[in-house]
Amino acid sequence: MKMADIAVLGHGVVGSGVLEVLLSHGDSITRRAKEAIRVRYVLDLREFPELPYAEVFTKDFDRILQDPEVRIVVECMGGLEPAFTYAKACLSNGKSFVTSNKELVAARGAELLALAQKNNLNFLFEASVGGGIPIIRPISQCLAANEVSEIAGILNGTTNFILTKMIRERMAFADALSLAQQLGYAERDPSADVEGADACRKICILASLAFGSHVYPEDVHTEGITQITLEDVAYADAWGGVVKLIGEVKMLDSGKLSIQVAPMFISRESQLANVDDVFNGILVRGDATGDVVFYGKGAGKLPTASAVVADVIDCVKHLKARKYLFWEDAKPDRVEPYGTVPEDFFVRLQGPESSDQAFAQARTRLPGAARIIRRDEAPGEVGLSVGGISENQLRMALDQLSGEGLRVLNRVKISDF
Ligand code: HSE
Repeated sequence: MKMADIAVLGHGVVGSGVLEVLLSHGDSITRRAKEAIRVRYVLDLREFPELPYAEVFTKDFDRILQDPEVRIVVECMGGLEPAFTYAKACLSNGKSFVTSNKELVAARGAELLALAQKNNLNFLFEASVGGGIPIIRPISQCLAANEVSEIAGILNGTTNFILTKMIRERMAFADALSLAQQLGYAERDPSADVEGADACRKICILASLAFGSHVYPEDVHTEGITQITLEDVAYADAWGGVVKLIGEVKMLDSGKLSIQVAPMFISRESQLANVDDVFNGILVRGDATGDVVFYGKGAGKLPTASAVVADVIDCVKHLKARKYLFWEDAKPDRVEPYGTVPEDFFVRLQGPESSDQAFAQARTRLPGAARIIRRDEAPGEVGLSVGGISENQLRMALDQLSGEGLRVLNRVKISDF
């Protein structure tokens, strides 16, 4: 039996999961890869003397780089550096690179794909979006005969868990966040999750893949869920839906991309409305297929590790050939400036008099607005849905209304998925 030697960078949650999957599924993996996969090195600064594979640990990346037997390097460290430096070094030295690192792919994907192509190596990252959900391969291969027009996804498990608790149990945001932390669903510093940065990286990776040129997180409007209150959740319910953190990208008629991450009202009829708890759901709209929806565990040790190991198997099977996975570097002006595209919004206002008066006043600046009434509306509070207005126009109208004595309590987008 031939042997494929690999190295694993990082023995955290995902890296240790990769070892676990390789050890527990060794026979079936060997059958599928047609070679036995042997972990020759695990790079970590910590020591794990109690582990049965303690002898493969090293703290020296150069040992891995200089070892010609290692043909595939698996990176599960997370963070941009040193992951990027290691990825470049491996792809410049004859080693294919598999990663679960969304920061790395979102920031440097185009560059690393080009380097892999130049050197006839593979750079694979199925686990970087959607954890255990297959989504990179489906978009790049299975749906390749389609023109993808839109992608919308619930791409962050932590925030989906928090919102689910707010919706189902009327738990306040702060309490739901601390429960997520107690259960290990949220990091001690959950800012990348609750402020939307994590979901933004993932929608950028999907947009780059589906539309063929790199989209950077800095080019994307990102809102998190920290401003969402139980009142907003109650209004979403009265409107006929739920609040979800959505990452979405749409191809506009102009050929530009509209891309954003924001909490949105989603209709109960939507395929994404019942994606709850820590689950992720991704809807890909293609011209031939219509809507295709992917659902599953978007994070966690074994789901993510299984996607990493599947990439390793693919690499072993294609050591001398490149898998078709590529996008170009960013094109200037590819992303439509935020705030110009017409959207639908929910707006919550409060006036000094009655709710009816607040509604009448709001309609002077937002003539098409329809009222949404929730139970236990506060005195003077009014909820509105406003259709087909750009963020810039809405902001102007709300500025005028607040100058005229109405308090703007919140505004949340309404999704059309
Ligand atoms: N915190 C992330 C999530 C982990 O909840 O989805 C996976 O990227």
